[in-house]
Order: sequence, then C-alpha cells, then structure tokens
Amino acid sequence: MSPPHIAVYGATGHTGRLVAADLHARGLEITLAGRDGNALKTLSEELGGALVFEAALDEPAALRDLAGSADVLIHCAGPFTDTGRALATAAAEAGCHYVDHALEQHHTKWMFDAMQGPAREAGITMVTAMSFYGGLGDLLAGAVAAGVTGVDRVITAYSVTGWRLTTGARKTAELLFADTRRITYTDGAEHVGYVEPRNAVFPFPPPLGPRTMIAPVPFPEVVTVPRHVAARQVEAQLTAHTFEEEQAFTSEHVDAATRAGSHFTVAVQVITQDGNRAGQARGHDLWRMSALASVEAAVRLAGGQGDGGQGPEPGPGGQGPGPGAGGQGPGPGVFSPAEAFPAGPFLRDLERLGLFTLTLQEER
Ligand SMILES: NC(=O)c1ccc[n+]([C@@H]2O[C@H](COP(=O)([O-])OP(=O)(O)OC[C@H]3O[C@@H](n4cnc5c(N)ncnc54)[C@H](OP(=O)(O)O)[C@@H]3O)[C@@H](O)[C@H]2O)c1
Repeated sequence: MSPPHIAVYGATGHTGRLVAADLHARGLEITLAGRDGNALKTLSEELGGALVFEAALDEPAALRDLAGSADVLIHCAGPFTDTGRALATAAAEAGCHYVDHALEQHHTKWMFDAMQGPAREAGITMVTAMSFYGGLGDLLAGAVAAGVTGVDRVITAYSVTGWRLTTGARKTAELLFADTRRITYTDGAEHVGYVEPRNAVFPFPPPLGPRTMIAPVPFPEVVTVPRHVAARQVEAQLTAHTFEEEQAFTSEHVDAATRAGSHFTVAVQVITQDGNRAGQARGHDLWRMSALASVEAAVRLAGGQGDGGQGPEPGPGGQGPGPGAGGQGPGPGVFSPAEAFPAGPFLRDLERLGLFTLTLQEER
C-alpha cells in the first residue's frame, strides 16, 4: 500500500512550513501548494524534494486538481475569511479529506452550515479549527466535559506570552477584532451581534494564578463546543497582556527560532450545578502545537484512524456525524476537533509529541 499523500495549501507560510516539514520527516508523500510557484520550488529544495502545485484561489479547476491528487488537504493559508471557501469547496468537489487552521468564527460556522451536505455526499471528513486557538480549547472542553451532565458554562482561557504574529496571523487578528458581527453562545443559543469585551479574571492554577482576561474573544469555541457539550454558555478568553506585549504586532519578520519562543497555558473550566471540572495544557511554541495538531488529524484521516470507525456520538446541539465510512476515521461530514477524534486520547498523543503537559482533573 502506498503511503498517504497529503497536500499542504499555504505551504510557504510559517504554519505551512512546519506542517510540511513534519509530514516530510514522517516519510509521507506531500504536495507543497500555494499561489507562489517560485517560493514553493525553493521550499521543495530546502526539504530535499517534494511535489509542488501552484494554484491561486480564483482557479477552482486547479484547486480541484490539487485536492484530487491527495488523500487529505491541510489548509494553512489565511486569513480564512479570504481563503477558506475556495479550498473547502475544492476538497469536497474532489472527494479529498480536509483539515484547516481557521481561527475565524464565521468560517467555522460556514463550514458546518454550508459544507455538511457536500462533505457527506462526497464521503469525506472535514475538520475545521484544528489548531492552537480554537482547536486546543475545543479538545480540552471535550476531554473535561466527557460524561458530565448539567453543564452551565464552559470557559476556555488562553494565557499566552511571547506570541509574535506572522503576517497571516496579524491580518486575521485585525479582521477578527474589527468584525462587529461577533458570535456568542449564551442561554443555550448562538447570537450574532456586537459584544463589548469586558475585563474578567480567570483563576489559572499555580504557578500562573489569577489573570486579567479579555472576555469574550471571538474564537470558534462558541461554534464548536456546543456541538458536543450541552451547555448554557460557552466563552473563550485571552490574557489581556498578550496583545499588550510590544513585540506581538511588530515581529512579522522574525526568524522561526525566535517565533518559537511563545509560552502558553490553555485552561478549561466546565461549570455545573454540582461543582467544577477543569483541565489545562501548558507548553511552549504555539505554532508548532498548531502545526502538529493538524498533522495528527490528517494522518488519522489518511490512515483511517479516528474513533475506531464508529463515528462520534451526535452532538447535543449539532446534527451529528454521518455513518462511519467503512471503518475509516470519524465518517463523512464536518467536525470540530473534539467531534472528529476522542478528545482525551488525541490530547495525550499531542502531549507525547512534547507539545505540552496535560492536566485533566476534577474539582469538587
Ligand atoms: N488558530 C490558530 O491557532 C492558528 C495557528 C496557526 C495559524 N493560524 C492561521 O493560519 C493562517 C496562516 O498563518 P501563518 O502564521 O502561517 O501566516 P503566514 O506565515 O503569513 O503565511 C500565510 C500563508 O498563506 C498564504 N496566503 C495568504 N493569503 C493568500 C491568498 N489570498 N491566496 C493564496 N495564499 C494565500 C501566503 O502565501 P503568500 O506567501 O503567497 O502570501 C502564505 O503561504 C492565518 O490565518 C492564521 O490565523 C491559526
């Protein structure tokens, strides 16, 4: 059997490079894809040779050909507000599994609203927001809330220092914070409209302790978590100091080693009438964590490793997945990270890669 073939769109970006390098090191067949042919060729030479595929967003036939040549497409080019639809559509039309790094709430919502039907029809699995922001929160919420009933609130709280935004991340952050159509999840329902961010204090466990947070931040957990946790409210928060650090927005061109110097603690609180449950992941280099999460997802989809082929349980708020595709992964449809893969074991696998230290505990 030939090794899985994985296409990486946006391969020349910071995230795409990390994804491509890791896939290459695992000995998988890869195609480096994006809109800049010369940059792709240079990257291919750096990696010691890999297929290259140049295709721009306004070339749907070429994007279909790209997706048609691979088992899985990992979409790393952003902002996804600009790039998301073209690649997801091409993957569905070509019958290729799909994983993306989207941070944008509206892209994630669009994936569930618009791509569920095409994904099921094509028999493919699409996993959206499989990254650090959004993805790690969704996985932690899934792991901590597993088997818990009567959930009132889920809070995913990100403490990040040393985040040096790339061009793609800066553009994405600017779009997100300028968008007044923010999605929130309160009183058991999704709402769209402007929400004035407030300052909140989140009680991170020691050594971090209580931190001032921007609450809410417009991350995709409000779309993804209610699909698998029946809660009254879901909210994502980010430490206020993250954007106060001067280098956050002035380091677009720093080298990869400097960029790897971020530190994070992502904590989740699942608040019920009877007590709280908590969990956290503590590590460094959020970019590497993002890249390897998408690689782990893609490898599972390509090899058919998911949740044993049974498909996840239908989510309380969502439509639930389609049937397992002959024992190959979670089956056809669009999934959040924690819907696509059993969250606890998936996180433990990421921990084994040295991406963070995981604590999943029950507080009573
Ligand atoms: N949720 C998370 O935690 C997380 C983590 C990592 C990344 N991301 C997201 O992933 C995206 C990329 O991040 P990055 O750090 O890798 O950014 P980056 O280093 O600036 O790279 C961006 C990549 O996207 C490509 N691109 C941008 N606009 C494009 C377009 N219109 N058509 C085709 N290609 C386009 C760029 O190609 P050119 O070089 O040709 O411009 C480049 O390859 C961002 O949206 C970011 O928010 C999210």
